[in-house]
Amino acid sequence: MEKVWTEEELKKTSDSFEGKSPQEVIGWALDNFHPHISLACSFGAEDVVLLDMLVKIRKDARIFYLDTGLLFKETYDVIERVKEKYGIQPEKYEAEITLEEMEEKYGPKLWETNPDECCRIRKVRPLEAALKDLKAWITGIRREQSPTRANAPVVTWDNRFGLVKINPLVAWTYDDVWNYIKDNDVPYNVLHDQNYPSIGCQPCTRPVHPGEDPRAGRWAGKEKTECGLHQ
Ligand code: ADX
Ligand code: SF4
Repeated sequence: MEKVWTEEELKKTSDSFEGKSPQEVIGWALDNFHPHISLACSFGAEDVVLLDMLVKIRKDARIFYLDTGLLFKETYDVIERVKEKYGIQPEKYEAEITLEEMEEKYGPKLWETNPDECCRIRKVRPLEAALKDLKAWITGIRREQSPTRANAPVVTWDNRFGLVKINPLVAWTYDDVWNYIKDNDVPYNVLHDQNYPSIGCQPCTRPVHPGEDPRAGRWAGKEKTECGLHQ
C-alpha cells in the first residue's frame, strides 16, 4: 500500500536531513515519490544544479517549467542547452490565455497595472495544473535568499497546494551553488554573468547594482517580492 505521510513524519524527516547533502535528499525523494514528483525548474542557478543532480540519480526524473511567454531569450537558450546536454524533455506549463488575449481582456502591460493578477494567470494557475497529479514537488529555494525563506524546511507539507514540498538546497550558500555549477560544468543562464542573480520574467527583472540585495532586481519599484509560488 502506498505510504501516506503525516506532517509529524515529514517534520522528523526534514530535521534528519539538516546537514545532509542535497543528493541524499533527492535520492530519498525519488525513492518515495517517483513518478509522482517533479522539479519546478526556472532554469536559474539553483534549479540547474538540482536538475543536474536529479538526472544523475535518475535519468527519467521529472522536471517542469512555467513558461509565462515573457521569459528572457537567455532563459529560452538555456532550456535548449539543457535539453541537448542531458537528453531530457522538461514538461512545459503555460497560461490558459495568450499574451494577446490577456491584453484584450485587461489592457496593455498587466504586469505593470496589476502584477499580482498577471502572476496569478501566467504562473500560479499553471503551477496548480503542474502540481495537480503530483504527490511531491522539488524547488530551488534557499534560506539565504530572503527573510520569507529564512526558516524554510528541507521537507514540509505544502498546505497551499496540497502536496509534499522538498527544498534540497535550503542550507546552501550562493558560493555552494556556483562551485557546483563550475565543478560539474552545468549549463547556466548567461544573464547570471551580467548582474542578474535572480531571474524571472523579462518585464519584471532588472540587473542589481553592487551591494544591492540579490532579489532587488525582481519587481523593482513595486511592493511585490514574491510571485505566489512560495509562501
Ligand atoms: S519567485 O517566487 O521569486 O518567482 P524564484 O525565482 O526565487 O521564485 O524561484 C524559486 C523557486 O521557484 C525556483 O527554484 C523554482 O523551483 C520555482 N520556480 C520559479 N519560477 C519558476 C518557473 N518559471 N518554472 C518552474 N519553477 C519555477
Ligand atoms: Fe507577469 Fe511579471 Fe509575474 Fe511574469 S513576473 S507573470 S510578467 S507580473
